[in-house]
Amino acid sequence: MADAAIGAVRQPHQTWSNWPTFILAVAGSAVGLGNIWKFPYITGENGGGAFVIVYLACIAIIGLPILTAEIMLGRRGRMSPVNSMIALARDANRSRYWGLLGVMMMLAAFLILSFYSVIAGWAIPYVGQALVGSFADATPDEIGGIFGGLLASPWQLLLWHTVFMALTVGVSGIGVKAGIERAVTILMPSLFIILAVLIIYNMMADASSFDKAVKFMFNPDFSKLTSEAILTAIGHAFFTLSIAGGAVFAYGSYLDSKASIGVTSVAIAGIDTLVALMAGLAIFPIVFANGLEAGSGPGLVFVTLPIAFGQMPGGQIIGTLFFVMLVFAAWTSSISMLEAIVEWLQERGLSRGKASATVAGSAWLLGLTTVLSLNLWKGFHPLGFIERFEGKTLFDLYDYLTANIMLPLGALLMAVFAGWIMTRASTEEELATSGPIYRVWYFLIRYVAPIGIGAIFIANLG
Ligand code: PHE
Repeated sequence: MADAAIGAVRQPHQTWSNWPTFILAVAGSAVGLGNIWKFPYITGENGGGAFVIVYLACIAIIGLPILTAEIMLGRRGRMSPVNSMIALARDANRSRYWGLLGVMMMLAAFLILSFYSVIAGWAIPYVGQALVGSFADATPDEIGGIFGGLLASPWQLLLWHTVFMALTVGVSGIGVKAGIERAVTILMPSLFIILAVLIIYNMMADASSFDKAVKFMFNPDFSKLTSEAILTAIGHAFFTLSIAGGAVFAYGSYLDSKASIGVTSVAIAGIDTLVALMAGLAIFPIVFANGLEAGSGPGLVFVTLPIAFGQMPGGQIIGTLFFVMLVFAAWTSSISMLEAIVEWLQERGLSRGKASATVAGSAWLLGLTTVLSLNLWKGFHPLGFIERFEGKTLFDLYDYLTANIMLPLGALLMAVFAGWIMTRASTEEELATSGPIYRVWYFLIRYVAPIGIGAIFIANLG
């Protein structure tokens, strides 16, 4: 139904086999290091319950409506983020400069991929270490030494970064149906099973520690909630839902026109949140059972947990499963980070394989600077002359630039585009509803999300 006032209905390059596979693929993108590595440690650092509640509220009020908008923009544009944004702006008689929003999202994905691959690479040797029992009866110092030794060695980091990027390009290069679909339908359910096994183990091994973990995560103590914790919660809501990284946008561009975007978004946000909470229930009981520190920071997964794995009966198997799961989760996310630029290169005539290899190769190259900033370039603080960036390595700067600037800015602009630039008729058509749920979405996307993100931005930059 092409209607000049609404905009052209475009045909996709290709589509997913079915709707559930699409949900799995986007859930695979959303569920990653953000859920299993970052969420537990920032929850630990920010005191538990109250932080979790703010995070859940951010997901529901800001994250979910923008996730819906991003899938909608992708499906309506039917092309890579940059070309879709140009086409959609043209439909609305607006400037083609909206294409720059697409460019920024693709750049964000590229930057994130470059360092994400390095961190995900840490988990690969841990699979082997857990399997051969290196953590068994090791002292906390020895285990800290293993992690420190890994970070201090550019060669080891380079090796695992390379292996991880090869895994990523291996799946992406094969294509959407044969590669991405097959990978997510195997990896996502396995991840669920591994998490469930860990949680059941925790419940049976030490019920009182499990209880303590549940209380820590769900009993809010609002006196512990700082304004910084609120900012962290909102920023993490974007990162964990893969918002404004072009990944969801690109996946949405392959989505069948009949699938309901609203139901899809709720399912994805639900799965992502469930996995984060499950990761917490897999990790905190072990932390409490062993009298360890919940707020120990980024090392929580890589140092604290192996200490516990080394002491618990069956720790060799549980530990191996855990790190396999971490690699799986990161893998399905990194594949999605490639997609937006791969789609764009394909539009420019490159073959799928060449496009994937080009993007992954370039991100791998940039990733070398992250590898080095963990050791040889540790003292290199390029923006150190600005107070806010004092002591920040290149890796810290990439993280800051993407999580604190590019993703929130991309999210804000998408909300403005969907709420104010596109006609109401076209969003109603694409979301296939104009009922009460649509009106709630429309209100959130027009007012709550832009004002909320704008306020965070100002607070964050100020
Ligand atoms: N959502 C992913 C995670 O939680 C990270 C990601 C960000 C993926 C942006 C794609 C785009 O790990």
